[in-house]
Amino acid sequence: MRSALFVPGDSEKKLAKGLESGADALFIDLEDSVALDNKEAARTITAQFLKDTEPLKGRPELFVRINAFDTGFVEKDLAAVIPFAPEGIVLPKSEHGKDVTRLDALLRVDEVRADIEDSSIKIIAIITETAIGTLNAGTYNRSSKRLNAVSWGAEDLSADIGAIRRRNDDGSYRDIFRFARVQTLLGAIAAGVEPLDTVYPDFKDESGFQHECMEAMYDGFTGKMAIHPAQVPIINEIFTPSDEEIERAQSIVDTFEAAGNPGVLAVNGEMLDRPHLRKAEKLLARAFRV
Ligand code: COA
Ligand code: MG
Repeated sequence: MRSALFVPGDSEKKLAKGLESGADALFIDLEDSVALDNKEAARTITAQFLKDTEPLKGRPELFVRINAFDTGFVEKDLAAVIPFAPEGIVLPKSEHGKDVTRLDALLRVDEVRADIEDSSIKIIAIITETAIGTLNAGTYNRSSKRLNAVSWGAEDLSADIGAIRRRNDDGSYRDIFRFARVQTLLGAIAAGVEPLDTVYPDFKDESGFQHECMEAMYDGFTGKMAIHPAQVPIINEIFTPSDEEIERAQSIVDTFEAAGNPGVLAVNGEMLDRPHLRKAEKLLARAFRV
């Protein structure tokens, strides 16, 4: 997944617009962008939207971001949306792989109730929104077969910590947030799922956004979450491997295969060993998944 666009679950207008955004996924939000008084309306609007939306084909995958476990809303949120079979659920403020396992168990029951295929609903977890969650980023391996990706959040983490600033004057993140970002990347790889970079709230700052997408792509993130439709094409462009990158990766894979899969070989005076092969295979997997 390259781009995931957050859409407040209580806005019919934005939901309709989200479908046309070109995003790989919509994260329909029942959590932070919906006021407490509006939670029930958001459940109803989101359920209706899922019901009315045509089956998957050329449209974004639909994920619903439910409220966190400590709110007591999780069962209500799931009961409202699972009957309409969203492609997945986004779990915010996940603090441990066990939270994902717990959500997996709830989904299993809801799937049976709604007569949906077992384990068909995916999970994406946001894993650094609290201090404890950030420290536990390495606990997601084998948490659930449903887990497809993890992402991170800076806003809630700064509230949990009481940090006054998230970024330096030059726009770079301060240490705590760089740590959370790195924890997410390593936690994702350790769990064998995709790392998704966090949102960039200043949606009018196109060049800052572009820069942050590039940095994420360089470091190994496979995509980024968006909060505004204008951010989607930028994400898609930056996280889609170019034809040259695909060609080069394919030629590395082919060269290893032709040489009988050795540990190391030389191509045009350059050493290529197993990590180069793994990297090339990863890029091809990414290129042909999108
Ligand atoms: N999804 C779908 N459509 C969106 C959108 C989104 N996330 N954000 C904006 N739009 C639509 C607007 O409704 C508007 O539509 P219109 O031209 O038909 O009126 C158009 O895109 C342009 O929007 P703009 O005027 O630039 O922004 P705004 O002031 O309407 O909205 C935000 C700004 C931040 C409130 C809005 O982008 C938003 O709701 N983002 C998602 C917030 C969220 O879900 N946060 C939780 C995760 S951090
Ligand atoms: Mg939040």
